[in-house]
Order: sequence, then structure tokens, then C-alpha cells
Amino acid sequence: MQRPTPAWLFTAIFYEIYPQSFRDSNGDGIGDLPGVIEKLDYIESLGCNAIWLNPCFESPFGDAGYDVADFYKVAKRYGTNADLKRLFSEAHKRGMKVCLDLVAGHTSTAHPWFQASAQVKKNKYTNWYIWTDNGWREPKAPLSSIKGVYDRNGTYITNFFAFQPALNFGFAHPDPNQPWQLPVDHPDVKAVRREMMKIMKFWLDQGADGFRVDMASSLVKGDTDYKETMKFWQEIRAIYDRDYPDAALIAEWSFPNLAINAGFHIDFMIHFNTPAYTTLFRHETERDAFRMTPLEECGHSFFDKAGKGDIKAFLDIYQEHLGPTKELGFISIPTGNHDLTRLAHGRTIAELEVAFAFLMTLPGVPYIYMGDEIGMRHIDLPSKEGGFGRTGARTPMQWDSGRNAGFSIAPANKLYLPIDPAKDRPTVAGQSRDPKSLLNLVRKLAALRVKSPALAAHGEFIPVYAKAKKVPFVYRRSLNSEEYLIAINPTKYAAKISFDATYLGDKFETVVCRGAKLSVKKEKARLEMKGVSYGIYRKR
Ligand code: NOJ
Ligand code: CA
Repeated sequence: MQRPTPAWLFTAIFYEIYPQSFRDSNGDGIGDLPGVIEKLDYIESLGCNAIWLNPCFESPFGDAGYDVADFYKVAKRYGTNADLKRLFSEAHKRGMKVCLDLVAGHTSTAHPWFQASAQVKKNKYTNWYIWTDNGWREPKAPLSSIKGVYDRNGTYITNFFAFQPALNFGFAHPDPNQPWQLPVDHPDVKAVRREMMKIMKFWLDQGADGFRVDMASSLVKGDTDYKETMKFWQEIRAIYDRDYPDAALIAEWSFPNLAINAGFHIDFMIHFNTPAYTTLFRHETERDAFRMTPLEECGHSFFDKAGKGDIKAFLDIYQEHLGPTKELGFISIPTGNHDLTRLAHGRTIAELEVAFAFLMTLPGVPYIYMGDEIGMRHIDLPSKEGGFGRTGARTPMQWDSGRNAGFSIAPANKLYLPIDPAKDRPTVAGQSRDPKSLLNLVRKLAALRVKSPALAAHGEFIPVYAKAKKVPFVYRRSLNSEEYLIAINPTKYAAKISFDATYLGDKFETVVCRGAKLSVKKEKARLEMKGVSYGIYRKR
């Protein structure tokens, strides 16, 4: 690495927790922080050593907490600041890290800063949000704004939903004819920027291990090349390097080449800018809709049994970003998240195994979205807290066969969201007992990753067999003398290939596999794969 990087990130495996739906400790029907603490041993047993917790701060919950009303206070429904501190220390006792979610680009309209900003009378917060100077005139696209709600003579710029006003990080090229567009070095803009670091310091000093930054690229307006937004994050990273060298800065940017150069240690490659995730698991056509589209209608993602996907569609974008960033930070392709259709949607457990074999052996930092490790399904539900189609990926965690699947003792109609009603819904307890379960495979893969330097975040990634519209996809992971070969066939079609395998020698062992057979003779490898199969091999 060319920059100081927290050592723990090299072998980190994150577990993403949507706190509303993880574990309800006090029977009010909604997940909470003591509930997360109760389940730390489970997360540890999975082999995850870090947590990303979705926003847990005071909020009217119009967007599941991404509409923050107080960055310094844990929302009542989740517990208290003391509970969050206890979560940090309980996690640390188990060698685990906890990263919080920082919504840097906007707040809730209920935030006292915004309420002050909406006043006619000038005050400290007047410029903390972006307001035009005329209540009738809306700004030009791509800015969008809301008019007519407050007495202040202006419309306010939103960052996402109408109740999420954009904080003022300034304009990269303020229009001299629009004096309401403040430059990036305006004193009020600088105050907003200082406040962001203050929030991070506050929680880092309490024991947090870093932040996942929501919509990290959205801050400076009119910043078409992201130069000014990157400058801001580079300043933040300098403070991290100096004062919090062990803390992680994680972007929701989806353009690693920019995010990592902006100073982030990790960037997710999901949907907005680089459709890496969707080329693998769900086609682009779904990306704007956040809806439950049958796999067959999603276009042709690689992890689709029909075999019409194309690994090159993924690899070309992925490598374009991996090359220039691998000495600076890490790319993450998560199993899913609270915004995406569940990985299990339209897939069998066998197909999920193949997906996990792939995701857990990629470079960068893996993220397991809670419940994906047991194949929790996407449920068709009406919208809750701004979820719309995303709601189906946010149902309560299924722990066991007890009441409400062990999520909560509340009456079923009081639950945050209904439990998957299927009789055969997967549970942690059920899969723990079955040595052949998806859960136990995920455990095996996580343990393997953590103990194998070549599989760690920075091990080399070398495609060996990657042909347009063909299977399997075969790649090497190597570091120093350690060498892994991974073969992935998500389709229903069997495949037979041979390739040069000088790097493998004649002696190798099969570490984990399903329906795949590798043989090597005189440095030539022959791989026979059934439909829906994978193999992970290690040089001896
Ligand atoms: C991305 C978050 O992941 C999503 O859940 C949220 O609705 C938007 N950002 C707005 O903050
Ligand atoms: Ca609760």
C-alpha cells in the first residue's frame, strides 16, 4: 500500500446490520442496539470481524434513518448513546470493529439546523443548506428543489427525498448571476465541513472504528469532475491518517477510481456509476427501480442459471478500477445491501453457494448483508420508511423456529416488518445444525479467507479463463508463494476446459468444491464442471 492503511482492513469481512430488523431485545417489535450486542457471538461465529451499522441516530425515519435529526444522539428506538458505546466495547472484546453510517450530504428537514435555516431572519444556519434567493424560481437540473413549504423566500435543494435538504458544501463553479451559490471556501460552507469532522471525531472518540459515508460523491454541487468533493475527502483522510490511523473511511460512491483517490479506504462498486454488482447479480434495468424483478426479466447477469450473462461485462469495469486503485485502497462487491433486491431472489441455495464462493474470494473487502448468509428471501411488501421496493430486503432476521423467528417477542402485528411467511424460511438455528448448509459454507469460506494471505484484500487477482459469454470463470489469487485457483460456473450448463497452469505445479489440494474436478498434468490443467458448480484449489 502506498498510503497508511489500517492493518485490520486487509483481512476484514464486514457484516451489514439494518438495526430495525436484526434483533429486538425489549419486545417493542423493532430491532435495537442491545439486540445487536446479544448477537455479536453469532457474527463472530460467522467469521465476520467488522460491522457496518446503518444509521442509528435520532430521525423521523422517513428514509429509514437516512434523514438524521441529531447526529450526536442514538435514536430512542435503538437505545441510548451508552448502548452504542457498549456495542463498541463488546465488539472490541471479540476483536471486532464497528463502523457507523455517516449521512454527510443531507439531514432531515426536522433537524434543528434546517429548522433554523428555514427562518426568514438571518442566523448561524441560514447558509448551512442551499436555498435559492427566490421562492418561485427553482434551480436548473441536475439540482432539484422544494418550494412553498417555509416562509423563507427561496426554494431549498434536496439531496434525495423531499425531506432530505442538501447540506451546503458549496459550488465548484458558483454562477456569478446566482449569488446564492456559495463558493467552497465561504466561511459558512467551511463551518458545515468542520461540523462533519466534528461528528466523526465525536463517535471515533467514543470507540467507533470508522464510517461508511452515504452518497459520498454528492457533496459539492456543480462538481462535474468531482475535484472539489475529492479535495474535501482528502482533507478528511489527512485528519484520519494523523489522528485516527486505525479508523476506516468507506464510500458509497461506486466509482473506486475517484473514491479511493479521494482518500477512502474502501468503495462499494454497486449501481449508480459503475454497474459492477448488477452485471453479476441483477441486470442494470433494475437499478433505478429498486423493485422485485424476476431474474429472467433483469437482462443477463453472470450469476444467472440461464447462462446468458457475460463475465466480461463485469471484469472490464472491475479491472479498470482495480488496476489504478490496488495500491491505494480496496474495492468491495457486497452480497447485497438494504437498497438492493436480496441475492436469494430467483436463486436456489446451490446457486447462492456459487455466488458466495466467488464473493468471498475476490480481492478487496467482502460485505455480507445480514441474512444473505442463510439465503433470506426478498419479500413482496408495501413500502415502509421510504423503502419502496427496497422494503422486501429489510425484513426481520430469521434466527430460529420460535415466535417471530426469534426476532422479537412482540405480537406479530407490532413487528417493524412482517417475517417471511414461508413455512420453509431459512433460519440460523436450522442451518447451524446442517453441516451442508449455506451458513456453514459461508463460515468455511470466511475462515479460509482470514487465514490465507493470498485471499486477503490485497492478494493478486489474475483472471485465467474469462471469455465473453462463456463459463466457467477461472482466476488466481496469489501472494508471495501462496497460490489459489478458483473456478466458478453459475449456469446450468456443464463445461470442460483446459489451460496452462505452470503456477500451480502438479501438487494441489481441493479446498472447497461443488460439482467441479480439476486435474493437472505436465503443467496443463483440465477442469470439468457440472452446471451450478465451483471449486477452490490451493497449491501445495
Ligand atoms: C443511500 C442509502 O443506502 C439509502 O438507503 C438512502 O435512502 C439514500 N442513500 C439517501 O440517504
Ligand atoms: Ca426493541
